[in-house]
Amino acid sequence: MRITAIYPGSFDPITHGHKDIVIRASRLFERVVVAVAASTTKHTVFTSDERVAFAQTVFDGVPNVTVCSFDGLLADAAREHRASVILRGLRAVSDFEHEFQMAGMNRKLVPEADTLFLTTAEQYGYISSSLVREVASLGGDVSEFVHPAVVEALNRRLPRHG
Ligand code: PNS
Repeated sequence: MRITAIYPGSFDPITHGHKDIVIRASRLFERVVVAVAASTTKHTVFTSDERVAFAQTVFDGVPNVTVCSFDGLLADAAREHRASVILRGLRAVSDFEHEFQMAGMNRKLVPEADTLFLTTAEQYGYISSSLVREVASLGGDVSEFVHPAVVEALNRRLPRHG
């Protein structure tokens, strides 16, 4: 079966943890669409265009991975891209409750797509976009966690408290 998987998120910013999930998924599915949520309930440090540009940089040269942004419901984006899989990463049990709820709601909104989870590789289990932002804003080195273009952008963008 030729399956398209959509991998939605805020990606503020995209991390090596996200990258690892997408690269592994790119071996499982014919196409992986990284879908950057343009407007999220969270305040974002980077604009939607910036978050898309970082993801495009990260997946440059990976043939079956594309990056797009979406506004509104993920269910509509999944339909638009004819995705039959909604892909999410799970780092810890604490992620599960919210993910379980979202999967249930999305099943209602887009029954033709199933949510599948990949567990994060151990070495990325502690990385999150919010921690990367916090560490960077306090003067910590985040080069192990994100692409060099993101490191540079964080250093330019975030007010330094460290
Ligand atoms: O990276 P995040 O912040 O965990 O991603 C959350 C995201 C963007 C996947 C989720 O908030 C989402 O799907 N937003 C789009 C709006 C929507 O469809 N809401 C209903 C979700 S059941």
